[in-house]
Amino acid sequence: MAKSDDQKRITELRELLNDFSYSYYVLDAPTIEDSQYDQLYRELQSLEEKYPDLITDDSPTQRVGGEPLDGFEKFTHPHPLYSLANGMSVEELRQFDKRVRGGLDQEKIEYVVEMKFDGLAMNLIYQDGKFHQGATRGDGQVGEDVTMNLRTIQAIPLKIKGNVSGIREIRGEVYMPKKSFNELNKQRDENGEPPFANPRNAAAGSIRQLDSRITAERKLSFFSYGLAEPEIDNITTQKGVLDQLRQWGFPICPEVQVFSGIEEVISYCESWTPERRSALNYEIDGLVIKVNSLEDQRLLGTTAKDPRWAMAFKFPAVEEITQILDIEVSVGRTGVLAPTAILQPVRVAGSMIGRASLHNQDYIDEKDIRIGDWIKLRKAGDVIPEVVSVIVEKRSSDSIPFHLPDHCPVCDSPAFRLEGEVAIRCSNPDCPAVLREKIIHYASRTAMDIEGLGPAIIDLLLREKLIFTLPDLYHLQGQELAALERMGEKSAANLLEGIEKSKSKGLSKALFGLGIRHVGEKVAGILARHYGSLAAIQSATAEDILALPEIGPKIAESLAEWFRNPLNQELVQKLEAAGVDLTEVQTIIPENLPLSGKTFVLTGTLPTLKRDEAARMIEAQGGKVTGSVSKKTNYVVAGDEAGSKLTKAQELGVEILSESALLELLNQKTNGLYREILQTIE
Ligand code: IVH
Repeated sequence: MAKSDDQKRITELRELLNDFSYSYYVLDAPTIEDSQYDQLYRELQSLEEKYPDLITDDSPTQRVGGEPLDGFEKFTHPHPLYSLANGMSVEELRQFDKRVRGGLDQEKIEYVVEMKFDGLAMNLIYQDGKFHQGATRGDGQVGEDVTMNLRTIQAIPLKIKGNVSGIREIRGEVYMPKKSFNELNKQRDENGEPPFANPRNAAAGSIRQLDSRITAERKLSFFSYGLAEPEIDNITTQKGVLDQLRQWGFPICPEVQVFSGIEEVISYCESWTPERRSALNYEIDGLVIKVNSLEDQRLLGTTAKDPRWAMAFKFPAVEEITQILDIEVSVGRTGVLAPTAILQPVRVAGSMIGRASLHNQDYIDEKDIRIGDWIKLRKAGDVIPEVVSVIVEKRSSDSIPFHLPDHCPVCDSPAFRLEGEVAIRCSNPDCPAVLREKIIHYASRTAMDIEGLGPAIIDLLLREKLIFTLPDLYHLQGQELAALERMGEKSAANLLEGIEKSKSKGLSKALFGLGIRHVGEKVAGILARHYGSLAAIQSATAEDILALPEIGPKIAESLAEWFRNPLNQELVQKLEAAGVDLTEVQTIIPENLPLSGKTFVLTGTLPTLKRDEAARMIEAQGGKVTGSVSKKTNYVVAGDEAGSKLTKAQELGVEILSESALLELLNQKTNGLYREILQTIE
């Protein structure tokens, strides 16, 4: 057959297969037998093998996953992804409505009610109708590029139906259908692998897979619920957004309804009984109520975190009954003795629960919790297992109240209770359990992200007395590591490399990694970017710190207390001496910076700068670094082996910079700014 005929057939097969997939995965109404599908798929595969140059990204054969990645790239969302304010009661729904009515000065509001899918929020970028890139929500500004994995999800169209030109940013939720989840866990059990606790965890684990071929086997699905720029398509309501998404071939929630006024919304919410929920093939943890008019949404705006025009109505938790088999005591990062109930495993609202934190002695006494007791258990906020109460009628007469030990269960040092605190702590500042937890936190993905330094290795290092303090990590030797059991030269070298890399993670990661009370990831970032160095944070006055956004007195006090402790000062000195970078590029008021309003995309390997360094330099001058090239991109900085992003930039006529051109631009801008400042001073 002539190539042109084959080409025609290829196009035809792709359309047929895409239509069948659409009926199957989006409409949930299969139109042909699996075997027929397979036959057509194989025909397409063999034609594509014959003409590899005709393979396109949107071919149904390109959903199988590819070579494993080394890691996920960061993806800066072109438009931020917000979260939702939560409410648990009808009263909170009425308050929300009151705020909305007040804000809009209207008597009755039209609302859309959607399911709140219990999965992972995703941002999908389509360029000229083709699926281009997709990323997790992350912190709402920057997520992880999981494009390869998303391509394997059949419910995500590789091509938008109809003619759509330009960029579209589609928001939705990747989830694992309950059926796929049950099959997956059955299979894992057969393979001797631990089961996933719930469909959400299973979906998260599958999306965060570096090997997309594994994701392809996981049978994930997708619901779309949002569009970043609905105005491009002249859409004026949230219902209109959903209708448009459906027309484009995206799955949308079949249970969506529009209501006039909050009372109708409330009746609908109340109709979602646990039985009705459990009949769905996907997990939901509540309903989402959104103001329908997009203009009204714009008028209401957002707070720092959440839109004022939407709210999540979370279902009250489901309670189950089970028995406490034992109470275990572990020692946390701050030396606190933490009691955990070991339970007869029970399924609560979709996941198996075998443990529940009992927090502290007061909590145990207040609820009079004893080993052997039967209890009511629920998931707080649908996630964390919580003992609601003891069923005293079922208690055996010889049950004995539980008391936390007066000695540390790990190092046997005396445990004490501070005045005014509920917690009981180990008195030994060098308690190996405390150090263990500190190092686990320091090495964790969101802190210093030290590859290869997980709890098992940390235990080994502590047991073999290779480390006694956190900075000792930086003095580990290849030979002593390689000699450890189950280690070997290669893993030793990898571990050392991971530790070495952590030195240049910068202050925000390090500060978070130090585990100072109340200094979470976000706060650490704010402090690091504002002060630029740990020394500057230390010498800042409480007043100065309190003036920063999102920093309250608790945080300021905790920082001061931490720096006062000579042991911590010594720790900082030792980390610095080991070469750990305790500085960060300072960000000043972004609007006035030389690169404010300019968007950059970095691609390929740059000759001297690491990508995150280049990004930090650009951001320090107010520029924005995003993950995908579009018409709005001002510059693409391309290094060696730059791939499709460079091609795209060339197609769109976006200015392309080499590393040296970037440095020149940064210099020029800085000098320009200084000149301006000097002139104003003169
Ligand atoms: S709208 C408006 N709609 O809930 C801004 N989110 O707590 C928020 N979610 O990160 C997104 N179902 O993962 C929206 N129908 C729905 C949703 C939904 C689930 C998740 C989403 C988001 C989280 C916010």
